[in-house]
Amino acid sequence: MKKLSEQERRDQLRNKIIGLGEKSIRKSYYPELQQRIAELEKTNTELRQEIAVRKKAEKTNVRLEQQLQQAMKMEAIGTLAGGIAHDFNNILTAIIGYTDLARLNVEKHCGSENCPLSLNLDHLLAAGHRARELVKQILTFSRQQKRENVPVQLSAIVREALKLLRSTIPASIEIREKFVSDEGHIMADPTQIHQIVMNLCTNSYHAMRENGGILAVKLYETEMDSADIRVDRLQLRPGTFMVLEISDSGVGMNRMVLERIFDPYFTTKEESGGTGMGLAVVHGIIREHNGHISVYSEPGEGTTFKVFLPQIIASVQTHVVRQLEELPAGTERILLVDDEEFVLNLEKEILEKLGYQVTTFLNPLEALDVYDTHMDEFDLVMTDMTMPKMTGAQLVAEIVARNPQAAVIICTGFSELINERKAKALGASEYVMKPFVLREIATTLRKVLDADA
Ligand SMILES: Nc1ncnc2c1ncn2[C@@H]1O[C@H](COP(=O)(O)OP(=O)(O)OP(=O)(O)O)[C@@H](O)[C@H]1O
Ligand SMILES: [Mg+2]
Repeated sequence: MKKLSEQERRDQLRNKIIGLGEKSIRKSYYPELQQRIAELEKTNTELRQEIAVRKKAEKTNVRLEQQLQQAMKMEAIGTLAGGIAHDFNNILTAIIGYTDLARLNVEKHCGSENCPLSLNLDHLLAAGHRARELVKQILTFSRQQKRENVPVQLSAIVREALKLLRSTIPASIEIREKFVSDEGHIMADPTQIHQIVMNLCTNSYHAMRENGGILAVKLYETEMDSADIRVDRLQLRPGTFMVLEISDSGVGMNRMVLERIFDPYFTTKEESGGTGMGLAVVHGIIREHNGHISVYSEPGEGTTFKVFLPQIIASVQTHVVRQLEELPAGTERILLVDDEEFVLNLEKEILEKLGYQVTTFLNPLEALDVYDTHMDEFDLVMTDMTMPKMTGAQLVAEIVARNPQAAVIICTGFSELINERKAKALGASEYVMKPFVLREIATTLRKVLDADA
């Protein structure tokens, strides 16, 4: 047997003593110790849970703060948009109005509708009208206002939106359109439908940004009767639905993402500044229109969204190309009020071009003074809405008070939120939206003047 060194013997002895000690400790204190250990373990677990809860709360706090900041940012953008919209609209009025006039003049000189200059001006007009729509869209979004639904041809809106998209998304993404139901109408707010298309297609574009791909947009009809499970489950009204199908060959989504896509602020695009509001807005709009949205997606396989909107029977109102010689004209006397000088001059020029005799006023109070003494010399009053000294609404009220039969047209920008009902309540015969569309103003004038005759 190996002889142990002094040190080893000592260690052995110490271990024996400790062992004996432990044994006796276990024997006498075991239950208490065990209990204490259990208590400590429990406290430990509770602490750990509390820390987790706090960490989660902190995360939620950060998230809420970000959401608040985002909301404040959106509000600021809204205010800004509302602020510039009025001025921007006046600028557009000039652009569109003078282009209209230029087109009239050019045609007179070259004697044909198809001279190159005329066609250039047509493009300029089309761009002007798009800008007009864009302002409207920004305003709807920034104010979250509820607008009135009108019969709209869905395909026209989708085409317009796709045209806009084509200019913003790269050529590596091919857009395929297939409109089976071109004529179908829905009852809707055009701006909001435009927004649906833009939001869905933008998401598709993002999903294909890396590798390109195909964005397929289809439009068709489908019947849903009361036996249809979707009608029952989604509380839809049975009938014919327009289906707008938007699919992409992008990255797709997994189950976890799919479950949350319609939640406000849910985004997987934190780095690129996604708000996570896109689909939440889409969902809200579709619900407001008594429709339904469904989604199918697999990771790596792409995504298909289907938007169902109730179809209505509507007479097809196509935008005919303007036939200039057909513009309804007249020779009546018009009192015209607008506080913006260049708008006033433009309107005067347009009205005179149509044959009318026009007296202009920058100041509504002055206009009212003249109306007081020369009421019989005017067949119609046309006034702007937002003016510093006296609003259009006040002016109309004063004029109608003096002459209940007065023919009055209110001109409004988008920011003033006037509709037919409101205009009539103010006492006006009609209203027109700025920037003016030559044909619209010509027709409205005749409508009002002929109704009075
Ligand atoms: N076509 C799609 N393909 C793949 N993922 C999609 C698609 N559409 C939506 N998603 C997923 O749904 C999430 C929410 O979309 P949503 O449009 O609400 O917000 P966002 O696109 O992230 O932000 P924003 O719309 O402000 O750019 C996206 O972050 C993305 O993960
Ligand atoms: Mg989006």
